[in-house]
Amino acid sequence: MDIVVFESLYGNTAAVAAAIAVGLGEDTRALTTSEATPDVVAAARVVVAGAPVHAMSLPTAATRESARAKPQGAEHMPADLGHLSMREWLTALPRGPRLGAAFDTRVRGPLGHGSSKAIAQTLEACGFTLLDAPRGFTVHMHTSSSEPAALLARGQLDLAREWGEQLRERAAALV
Ligand SMILES: Cc1cc2nc3c(=O)[nH]c(=O)nc-3n(C[C@H](O)[C@H](O)[C@H](O)COP(=O)(O)O)c2cc1C
Repeated sequence: MDIVVFESLYGNTAAVAAAIAVGLGEDTRALTTSEATPDVVAAARVVVAGAPVHAMSLPTAATRESARAKPQGAEHMPADLGHLSMREWLTALPRGPRLGAAFDTRVRGPLGHGSSKAIAQTLEACGFTLLDAPRGFTVHMHTSSSEPAALLARGQLDLAREWGEQLRERAAALV
């Protein structure tokens, strides 16, 4: 089985993860950090992991709390803090060898190193072979909609699915 693991406060990274999972193929599940326990990760062939960019890097306890106290996503939409942060999840990552890739959702362009680079570095440190460079998907800072994933910029879910397809082809060439 392949898995796409995500941290997502307002549903945007979750939607990108689901689209990547579609591209990766039928035997792929998009999982929260709570669902992707070390046992589940240890049984996976490909592990793709993603998180929002907060303060130019992975969310911290402080940025998550700030999102809860003063939502910056969809208005009236409470931040979901019910799962481990990606930062915490990475501390319990079982060692490879395994295939992997990292992504993030961000407001625009490369700001600092983003979250995906930090995730990719940890995957590599744990013995993963990366299938591609870290990838960013674009969101808007604000939206008047309170639908989940309303911050995503146009076309991002198509790009995410296509990236998943590329990852599937690269994984197939390696195993
Ligand atoms: C506390 C906080 C800090 C943020 N800092 C940044 C940032 O430094 N750069 C950026 O591009 N986006 C930043 N954002 C926007 C997030 O990237 C955006 O909310 C996120 O991609 C939405 O994904 P989610 O719905 O999965 O949480 C920040 C958001 C919050 C709540």
